[in-house]
Amino acid sequence: MSAADVAPKVAGNPAEPGADPLWYKDAVIYELHARAFHDSNGDGIGDFPGLLQNLDYVQDLGVTAIWLLPFYPSPLKDDGYDISDYTGINPSYGDLDDFKKLLEQAHRRNLRVITELVINHTSDQHPWFQESRSSRTNPRRDWYVWSDSDDRYRGVRIIFKDTELSNWAWDPISKAYYWHRFFSHQPDLNYDNPAVREEIWKILKFWADMGVDGFRVDAVPYLVEREGTSCENLPETHDVVKFLRRRLDEYYPHIFLLAEANQWPVDVRPYFGNGDEFHMAFHFPLMPRMFMAVKLEDRKPIIDILQQTPDIPENCQWGIFLRNHDELTLEMVSDVERDYMYDMYAFDVGARLNLGIRRRLAPLMEGDRRRLELMNGMLMSLPGSPVLYYGDEIGMGDNIFLGDRNGVRTPMQWSGGWNAGFSTADPERLYLPLLSNPVYGYQTVNVEAQRRTDHSLLSWMKRLIRVRKSSRAFSRGTIEFLQPRNHRVFAYIRQLGHERVLVVNNLSSLAQPVELDLGAFEGYIPIEMFGGNPFPRIGRLPYLLTLAPYNFYWFRLRRL
Ligand code: BGC
Repeated sequence: MSAADVAPKVAGNPAEPGADPLWYKDAVIYELHARAFHDSNGDGIGDFPGLLQNLDYVQDLGVTAIWLLPFYPSPLKDDGYDISDYTGINPSYGDLDDFKKLLEQAHRRNLRVITELVINHTSDQHPWFQESRSSRTNPRRDWYVWSDSDDRYRGVRIIFKDTELSNWAWDPISKAYYWHRFFSHQPDLNYDNPAVREEIWKILKFWADMGVDGFRVDAVPYLVEREGTSCENLPETHDVVKFLRRRLDEYYPHIFLLAEANQWPVDVRPYFGNGDEFHMAFHFPLMPRMFMAVKLEDRKPIIDILQQTPDIPENCQWGIFLRNHDELTLEMVSDVERDYMYDMYAFDVGARLNLGIRRRLAPLMEGDRRRLELMNGMLMSLPGSPVLYYGDEIGMGDNIFLGDRNGVRTPMQWSGGWNAGFSTADPERLYLPLLSNPVYGYQTVNVEAQRRTDHSLLSWMKRLIRVRKSSRAFSRGTIEFLQPRNHRVFAYIRQLGHERVLVVNNLSSLAQPVELDLGAFEGYIPIEMFGGNPFPRIGRLPYLLTLAPYNFYWFRLRRL
């Protein structure tokens, strides 16, 4: 009998009666690629059985959902974001049965599974595009965006600007140009064609029927093009989203949609609609401002962007993150801010890519444990559901010499043994080389070593996640910023009903005193949440705290 046969009904599965339909508001999401996690068959490439073997690790971390990077058949010219078959599994990672097992086992552990819906474009190897380009009269011709000239939609920005010169590419077969917002091997689908929408719906249905819990929808702002516009965030794009959400609500109301819309808050807000578009959207502009605040030792960038962030409907949530599989994007900052970020975090031009920085969190923090804790502490206490990128929980490094974004996609470092415990293959066969430098190499930074001590980053991250989950004020509460005179201290109150949490972050490399105006909480006792120790009762006078460099506190405010 397989483990799946004895699997109990999934208690936390949103499809089950009684499950909280708003589970995503309290989610802690772990982003990973099956390819990078663990190789079970020794071919040098991670796979689903390998991931399955390590699900206990993911569960033990305390996260509540896994976001799987694209695992579909693909020429892999954009790490799987160039899909050539939407309802298959790339054979390197396993097959549909492996995927089903993964779903079952994840659900058994109360882990939700979020997959990728890459619907702005396909690979040029997708049969739809092959048909579309085959002749101008092919019934699928109209599935992509064709033109006889390359001067339509002039002025639309180029996203992969280090690689592409135009958003149009010449197709020598049908002797016309096709539109692509990303690589030229990723032609954009034509959403003005209702047949395309229907086909996308079938894909959604296919995975929803299999049991996935949600979709991260890739590259949302670019679905529809119109002359004379930026071809981003158009009302017609919102119509497509509303169409998919309506269908989901009708047939699979428990499934959630997460938008990748790298835009300003005011332009992302419409993607929540009236609670009838996305359930969640990444907050892109917040991320670089957290990095800026720590460098500037000033809370202003974070407060500014959060104050510019409109309220969202009750059933919606932000997704917040520090790093992911892409470059640390600097699209949503001013030119001056971008220069500052480059100077501070990517002095080495090799670390720059497109409008961003291809580095992982630990090297960005110069391996400074205090700053890593502070950044993760903010991630876990600001409004939104935090998303962790695999490997960042152990402080993995990067390799900027690998080209494109591969440097932040190297194999998970499980141990100091052969191939970091990732694979039994010859090292030359690994899909990407392991990190082996003295600072971030797998001999130094690995799960096995960090499991041995309560003081490792990994153990600390587990505690952080556990404490975060102990109060819903973090996930669902309001935020109110305190304005102490010392601007190097970033303090706020998260509140949900009677539950109140005071967060105090020292953004500075030096010890700082701060006087907080907590008059509204006179008589309350702050209980430090990691140790449970009561601090002195709040009185009428400003509340004095001293903070070590990059130190932070979380206090539950109790009226005792
Ligand atoms: C993904 C990238 C990908 C691009 C094109 C994104 O925004 O996160 O990794 O290259 O879409 O699909």
